[in-house]
Amino acid sequence: FIGKTYGSKAARCNRDIKLSTDKVVDTVDIEEIGEKKAFCRCWKSKKFPYCDGTHTAHNRETGDNVGPLIVKKKDI
Ligand code: FES
Repeated sequence: FIGKTYGSKAARCNRDIKLSTDKVVDTVDIEEIGEKKAFCRCWKSKKFPYCDGTHTAHNRETGDNVGPLIVKKKDI
């Protein structure tokens, strides 16, 4: 196993977002997305579930390579 451990548990991804809930689930209406929207996959965004660019600092500090999921209308 690679990675930090806390007690007998593997390190968690989410350290800030809705910690009082058992599971973080977000719903976004397609109409809200408009032409293009970036969704956070690093769990560090202050605008979660949307990406605010914080992944850049995370990658720099940790050597990770995470980035957002971009949802957009198909180019025609
Ligand atoms: Fe999390 Fe960009 S801030 S993927």
